Amino acid sequence: MKIITIILAAGKGTRMCSELPKVLHKIANRPLLRHVYDMCYQLNNNAIKIVYGHGANLVRNSLADIDVSWVEQKQQLGTGHAVQQVSDQIPDSDIVLILYGDVPLLKLATVKHLIANVSDKTLALLTVNLKNPQGYGRIVRDSTGKVIKIVEEKDASIIEKLIVEGNTGIMAVQGVKLKKWLNQLGNHNAQGEYYLTDVIEMAVSDGVDISTSQPESVDEVLGVNNRIQLSYLERIYQQEQAYSLMERGVTLLDPARFDLRGSIVELGKDIVCDVNVIIEGENTIGNNVNIGANTHIKNSIIGDNVEILANCIIENSVVGQGSKIGPYARLRPETVLAENVHIGNFVELKKSTVAEFSKINHLSYIGDTTVGAKVNIGAGTITCNYDGVNKFRTIIEDGAFIGSDTQLIAPVIVGKNATIGAGSTITKDSPENQLTLSRAKQMTVAEWKRPVKLD
Ligand code: UD1
Ligand code: CA
Repeated sequence: MKIITIILAAGKGTRMCSELPKVLHKIANRPLLRHVYDMCYQLNNNAIKIVYGHGANLVRNSLADIDVSWVEQKQQLGTGHAVQQVSDQIPDSDIVLILYGDVPLLKLATVKHLIANVSDKTLALLTVNLKNPQGYGRIVRDSTGKVIKIVEEKDASIIEKLIVEGNTGIMAVQGVKLKKWLNQLGNHNAQGEYYLTDVIEMAVSDGVDISTSQPESVDEVLGVNNRIQLSYLERIYQQEQAYSLMERGVTLLDPARFDLRGSIVELGKDIVCDVNVIIEGENTIGNNVNIGANTHIKNSIIGDNVEILANCIIENSVVGQGSKIGPYARLRPETVLAENVHIGNFVELKKSTVAEFSKINHLSYIGDTTVGAKVNIGAGTITCNYDGVNKFRTIIEDGAFIGSDTQLIAPVIVGKNATIGAGSTITKDSPENQLTLSRAKQMTVAEWKRPVKLD
């Protein structure tokens, strides 16, 4: 059985009040349309077509990496008109699945169930009972309960408006049938649009049954029309992820204040996250890891028994097991810490490796640097890696001790077990095992007096 999924994504989304097409607004840092794509991509034998229109180039470019065919709808004349654009690409025997690019939380299981309901004689329709069905097309049934048509809110009678069963817009049906009905669509209705929903009445008159099913939760079929709904769906999505992490053994001190914008590909046991932790991109987190409040981790690997104190930012970095980071530490891309490293407060690292048991505990900038094992870098140390044009590396060998307030002017090497006196500006390689310092001589000026104010 082959499937053709048509994702409708041509609408402008006027109520977003945005330059960005609606389907590119994001949930968990991923465009709405991408959520829909990622879900239906998991169906076997599925050819995906995206009907696009508004913000054409933006939409296509921001999803350039995905494997779909794009079908342009130049004018947005309705959902039926949108599907018509794909008509000549629909093989007769395929099952056509219609999805919306602005309905991001739909579950694969719901879609599979819908598809399973399609046969020669049935069209499968996803409906939902709503407390407030305003704005939705209503599912009209006859006295025996059979679906006979869908009526749009704007075309509905007062009686029809009382119906609480709403149309989600999501349906599946055999290609040959859909194409026939698409040919017959008209636009004689309140909005002057070609309604996809009109195919239901046509199906019924062709003797095709409408088989309805409902999603497990209404949230799955909620669409995004404005930023309030966007934020609502973001929260639902985040809560689902938080609960699923807790089920996998993560302690979240407050699941409502945790955001996963990506995934934790490998997840250890007994991870504890304090409030306002954000985890983004693809990450690996080991066993017994504590993540302090307000910490942001992106595309990183965190080893076992790591302690990250509050307010750290860790991006494209590796933190070796047993290391301790923060509070207020920033690991910028390509930072690699070996085991049992200590990075303290207000320390920034970039493109640097630090070998085991080394410490950089206070107020330092270490960039483009190789730090050996058991090195101690004192407070206020700065690697001056940039001359305004080029970047240079600093090498600090095993066991070196860098006194506080040192500037290391790269390229420079501090030898094994070397000691650098506090306050030094190091411009030349410093030999191993020796003390090197550059410091203006201290002096005291005898009989010096503070100036006094003249009147
Ligand atoms: C549609 C349904 C309605 C249903 C509701 C659920 C129709 C006629 N009505 O109404 O029964 O209850 O969805 O949310 O189908 N789109 C295009 N091209 C167009 C028009 C729309 O691609 O010319 C896309 C939009 O980008 C959007 C989706 O189709 O993703 C739905 O369009 P929208 O205008 O929101 O439909 P509704 O009026 O809400
Ligand atoms: Ca809508």
